[in-house]
Amino acid sequence: MAIERTFSILKPDATRRNLTGKINAVIEGAGLRIVAQKRIHMTTAQAEAFYGVHSERGFFRDLVTFMTSGPVVVQVLEGENAVLKHREVMGATNPANADEGTIRKLFAESIEANSVHGSDSLENAATELAYFFAGTEIVG
Ligand code: CMP
Repeated sequence: MAIERTFSILKPDATRRNLTGKINAVIEGAGLRIVAQKRIHMTTAQAEAFYGVHSERGFFRDLVTFMTSGPVVVQVLEGENAVLKHREVMGATNPANADEGTIRKLFAESIEANSVHGSDSLENAATELAYFFAGTEIVG
């Protein structure tokens, strides 16, 4: 299996409730290594660009408002099969459908305030992590 890198966000509902350490413990417990991490307050322009693929969706404006409502923690995660492994440990987008033990089952408040984001493919991971990190900031 290949060593991959994926992109992760701990969302404003997680920082507001002081859950970043608990969520990182679940991520690390799944065998993923946090090789870059920083706390930022996304601008509206950054959130609109990052979620550009959803711009025609009914939830887009609310999503941008939510993602800029407080600080987030952006991360790069590394490990074997990291993209799929991270999606498994996050659980389903809607916490009502998330499996026991997943981050969203444990912590998410709603489909919008769902605590974490993770890339859905290796290709998107490379694009997404480049939005927020220079190569020199990623220390494997
Ligand atoms: P995320 O993985 O960050 O990618 C897009 C986000 O849109 C998703 O997680 C959800 O938090 C958010 N979202 C809000 N409403 C919906 C919805 N009805 N369907 C899918 N995603 C939604």
